[in-house]
Amino acid sequence: MIGKGKGFSTKSVHGGEERDPSTGAVSTPIYETSVFAFSSTNELVDVVGEKKDGYVYTRFANPTVRSVERKMSELESTEDAAAFASGMAAISTTILTLVSSGDHVVSTRDLYGGTLGFFKNVLVKFGVGVSLVDTVHLGEMRSAIQKNTKVLFAETPTNPTLKIVDLPSVAKLAKKYGLTTVVDSTFASPYNLRPVESGIDIVVHSATKYLGGHNDVTSGVVCGNRSFIRKLREMRKPLGGTLDPHAAWLVLRGLKTLGLRMEKHNSNGLDVAMYLEKHPKVKKVYYPGLPSHPQHLIAEQQMKGFGGVVGFEIDGDLGATMKFVESLKLCAMAPTLGGTETLVTQPVTSSHYSVGADERKKMGITDQLVRLSLGIEDSEDIIADLGQAFKQI
Ligand SMILES: Cc1ncc(COP(=O)(O)O)c(C=O)c1O
Repeated sequence: MIGKGKGFSTKSVHGGEERDPSTGAVSTPIYETSVFAFSSTNELVDVVGEKKDGYVYTRFANPTVRSVERKMSELESTEDAAAFASGMAAISTTILTLVSSGDHVVSTRDLYGGTLGFFKNVLVKFGVGVSLVDTVHLGEMRSAIQKNTKVLFAETPTNPTLKIVDLPSVAKLAKKYGLTTVVDSTFASPYNLRPVESGIDIVVHSATKYLGGHNDVTSGVVCGNRSFIRKLREMRKPLGGTLDPHAAWLVLRGLKTLGLRMEKHNSNGLDVAMYLEKHPKVKKVYYPGLPSHPQHLIAEQQMKGFGGVVGFEIDGDLGATMKFVESLKLCAMAPTLGGTETLVTQPVTSSHYSVGADERKKMGITDQLVRLSLGIEDSEDIIADLGQAFKQI
């Protein structure tokens, strides 16, 4: 551990990494091995029985993966963390660790489509009920709690309308009813938000986004207390969604520059949101950093910055929106976020394509909605690209 008093970027550079004693290599090596050898049966039995630290089999644990986990627990201010092959592996393994048949989950409605699909199509097959509630007006959350509710799940900021969940209120409600809180903090990253500091129990991330940060790796991370992460690891063994050491190394490298990148994502987010808010061809802008955002005050209280994702509605029909998106040159049409390159999507044709029209309407996802994930390019160049695309419609 690098130490409690250290700054965010010091932790992100040094946290969780131990210099290789045999070579002194400054960068953590990629331990590209599926298994570890032992010199005696007793040693093997001690490591398997957790009487002694060590590694046995990479699906259970691996030193490169362990470095990612240690670094992330320092960045999220949690006792421990576990890394996964994707954000969805992180989320599904977390929920399956927390619930059994007959249990119930309450979740905010605005969710990544994959999480929504897991709740609606997978959990239900195992007799676990899910109630979706309004993301912003948390009164519905209290009414949805049943005797068998075990988990409160929320995503903040939400995809793609950037709603903000009041985390201290969710944590307070959960404590009253003895429930475990899980927050998908992918859109914020630990630079902008640390949910456990608001009383949340477990934080999940798609590390494919800001943590990896370069649109070159798929991964997920879960941060929480030691006893939960221990149970989670036991569940990860049979489900098998372990992170590969090669991919772990890319996440490790990405994490070293997280603070630097987030500063630029945050400032580009604000610059572009302010530009769009004044543009005559834009009907509405969704960005928690704008004073016009309905939860701006909550965002200001719980976040350090507001991230690089901006949603906005074109003043036109679906055809005009498609033409605008297709006219962009610097901003690439690609359905992810959080990397160095600026990307653009229409949620209705990508992340929320498989979500029913009724559910989309409840989430406020219209045919005219465009989502920008601002990279770390110069904001003037991004704005110039948007400007030339507006001229095409
Ligand atoms: C908020 C959020 N959570 C989870 C996921 C799933 O992550 P992955 O694609 O790494 O499985 C995504 C993916 O877009 C996401 O946006």
